[in-house]
Amino acid sequence: MPLTYSSYLKVDELLQCQKPLSDGPEHDELLFIVIHQSYELWFKQMLHELDFLVSLFNAGERNRALHTLKRVDAIYRTLIQQVDILETLTPLEFLSFRDRLSTASGFQSFQFRELEFLYGAKDPRKLDNYLPGSEHYARLQKRLKSPTLWDAFLNFLAKEGHHIPNSLLERDFNLVAEPSPAVQQILIDIYRNDPLISEICEALVDIDTSLQQWRYRHVKMVERTIGSKIGTGGSSGVGYLQTTLFKAVFPDLWAIRSEF
Ligand code: HEM
Repeated sequence: MPLTYSSYLKVDELLQCQKPLSDGPEHDELLFIVIHQSYELWFKQMLHELDFLVSLFNAGERNRALHTLKRVDAIYRTLIQQVDILETLTPLEFLSFRDRLSTASGFQSFQFRELEFLYGAKDPRKLDNYLPGSEHYARLQKRLKSPTLWDAFLNFLAKEGHHIPNSLLERDFNLVAEPSPAVQQILIDIYRNDPLISEICEALVDIDTSLQQWRYRHVKMVERTIGSKIGTGGSSGVGYLQTTLFKAVFPDLWAIRSEF
């Protein structure tokens, strides 16, 4: 049997993965499933690219690192735009199947948490949502212990000859890294004197901005769909999501903006 489009991409298997739970089923549940699944596929691709980026930083591959960052940001911009589709779901349409979701929530997306941990927002309490011993738990535990994307970037800068403090290069990777005035001084110098690394810094700011934009679009979409109702994941809903807004992923890159 020659390889075909469907057999290579496993299209039949893929199209078996959408199983609405509502009676009928309700017309709009398919959209809800498809959009979440496509987000999860893109999260998979982003983790793939960002792990690669860590290895590129470690190998000092400047140009390819920049190229990879641009790809990740292009994916983010697509993810932000996809919120447009969900915004066509009215409160009544969502209500037609919402009860079927029970306690399931995007809050439990382990790939989203892996991305957060990789960016540096390490919070061991997030592991409480997963079963100890499960594959999801193990993946998050591994991310919790591993250097972040920012650690890899600092390592790259050190290899490029910048005097990154040893306390940062050899820090406890389980913890959230604090912003560093010493690193900020180095970044200011880079912006003035090293066009390619400063372009990498700007690409990191692009990703930071895109993640914050996604959070904003998600919370506004949630607000127009469920108002002030509590979330299926048990949080206060919009109130909780608002507390996640405007949190910088790479705070050192924001701190230097007023120094030029
Ligand atoms: C009608 C559509 C949606 C509604 C009403 C909704 C609602 C919510 C609510 C209320 C929360 C807070 C946690 C909770 O108590 O459940 C939440 C969190 C979350 N949602 Fe959605 N959501 C929707 C679509 C999506 C989509 C398409 C994604 C894509 C993966 C997504 C990903 C997430 C993530 C990752 C969180 C955790 C955010 C954090 O803790 O920082 N949601 N969502």
